[in-house]
Amino acid sequence: MNPYVNMAVGALLATVFVMMSVSIASEGIFHSAAPEKEGFAIVAAEPTGDAAAGEAAPAAVPIAQLLVKADAKAGEAVFKKCQACHSGEKGGPNKVGPDLWGVVDRPIASHEGFAYSAAIKDFSKGGAEHWTFEHLNHFLTAPKAYIKGTAMGFAGLKKDEERANLIAYLHSLSDAPVPLPDPNAPAPATN
Ligand code: HEC
Repeated sequence: MNPYVNMAVGALLATVFVMMSVSIASEGIFHSAAPEKEGFAIVAAEPTGDAAAGEAAPAAVPIAQLLVKADAKAGEAVFKKCQACHSGEKGGPNKVGPDLWGVVDRPIASHEGFAYSAAIKDFSKGGAEHWTFEHLNHFLTAPKAYIKGTAMGFAGLKKDEERANLIAYLHSLSDAPVPLPDPNAPAPATN
């Protein structure tokens, strides 16, 4: 047989082998990650997440239930991830992002002296929308998926427990924290 044909066949077989290995490997990764991500994938595809906050992540556990077991002390450690850009002190400075003292239930995009992006200002509907536990939960899971075009350059906290601890800590950053949501309230209608 022509040696070039042999080489070509060899190369073709090698390519097929590599492609099969890659496809098997990536399938493995995909399968292990898929069930947890499903709910968030839907959030990403939802262009009007703000209008349907309760329905934005049908598969996600409601934040009211996550907060029952949340630990604000552990959340304080998670907050270190935010501190490059945010202060959490009362009267603290705006850094790359606005100061987060009292952020729970604060009107969205309302901190004095901070130049918010058009995206988050739109989302706030002129301050009518507040940072409810639900909004915080979805926003902090995947900021850019929940508020498209936000200037917040943070990938998000995908782990329910870590995020709930952090939200419990944010809740404590207030002179008069708002009541925690009722974990027994019927969940907002999912699909
Ligand atoms: C790389 C910088 C950066 C990091 C890290 C970051 N943020 Fe932000 N954050 C921003 C910016 C910038 C904005 C303003 C967003 C806009 O204008 O669209 C923002 C806005 C916010 C808002 C809205 C505040 C308001 O007044 O409406 C919240 C809540 C928030 N961030 C929470 C967090 C939390 C909690 C963390 C940590 C888990 C975090 N951010 C990490 C930069 C950051």
